[in-house]
Amino acid sequence: MLKTEVVNQIIQNKKNLVNTSASGFAPVNIALCKYWGKRDTELNLPLTDSFSIALPNYGTKTTLSVIDAEQDEIYLNAKQVSNTTSFAERLINYLNLFREPGSALRIITTNDAPVSAGLASSASGFAALVKALNELYAWQLSATQLSILARLGSGSACRSLWDGFVTWQRGEAADGMDSYAIPQPQTWPELRVGLLVFSAAEKPISSRQAMQQTMQTSFLYKDWPEQVAYTMQELQQALPAKDFNKFGDALENNALAMHATAIAARPGIMYHQPKTIEYMHKIWQLRRDGVQVYFTQDAGPNLKLLFLDDSQEIVLRHFPEMKVIQPFPKPFQ
Ligand code: PMV
Repeated sequence: MLKTEVVNQIIQNKKNLVNTSASGFAPVNIALCKYWGKRDTELNLPLTDSFSIALPNYGTKTTLSVIDAEQDEIYLNAKQVSNTTSFAERLINYLNLFREPGSALRIITTNDAPVSAGLASSASGFAALVKALNELYAWQLSATQLSILARLGSGSACRSLWDGFVTWQRGEAADGMDSYAIPQPQTWPELRVGLLVFSAAEKPISSRQAMQQTMQTSFLYKDWPEQVAYTMQELQQALPAKDFNKFGDALENNALAMHATAIAARPGIMYHQPKTIEYMHKIWQLRRDGVQVYFTQDAGPNLKLLFLDDSQEIVLRHFPEMKVIQPFPKPFQ
């Protein structure tokens, strides 16, 4: 099934511009149980469920304005981007799913995270974009419908429609109408996410390509669905019990297992750089010294650390360049 068929089912052909300008914001989400492998590459339908935490107030803001021009005008982090870059092409192709031919837009998008640093800027990017489109065309879609539309841009984007913990259920339907994210009720005010960005280098291989190559060539991939089921169960048990050691152990193991499947692909895919390994060893040493800190890693070399507020000082002492985010800020703080 094609993306356009899914889009038309959801927006019911409402392609008339209602507003001349609209904005949307969406948070970055960090996968604690990874989405790694698709059962449908056109619709970005995953093989397994996945689970994430959003970084509130840290994401992408996108403003769309109708312009009287031949072509779209795209600005990324205050700089105009040529329409022939891969970033622009992906964006234009996505917008073409929703609009009448010939309606040009100015797209101004600002990311809090560095682009291509494995910090899921495409996830917050496509989620912010569908929110802005929902305003521009006055579709009045539900967050669930927007989650399905965001998935068509980038799989993990379907999780960026909500703050807090989010599960993306894989779904069974061929058209993906049951493959969307669902916000989870649990909160964890003591939880902290540390962003350790030591490399802004371009990814050697996109996550889309890496997943495909891994699924097709890695012997270890056959165990991945079982790994996910196990991680999900562990996370679901650890969360209500606020068992941070179990939680951290499960999410770190999931990231390592995901990378193991990629390393075993042919040719092997390794997102690690020397600093990634050095920091992993540092984190394991800290744990041996009694500090409860765990890491996760996506399709890039950088690490995201998870710890509780009472370890923040010591973790920051070891990683002074780390940016700390509180996923569940207290109200009125
Ligand atoms: O949504 P994509 O195609 O950028 O894939 C994201 C894949 C990972 O970040 C590695 C894992 C995840 O669940 O976000």
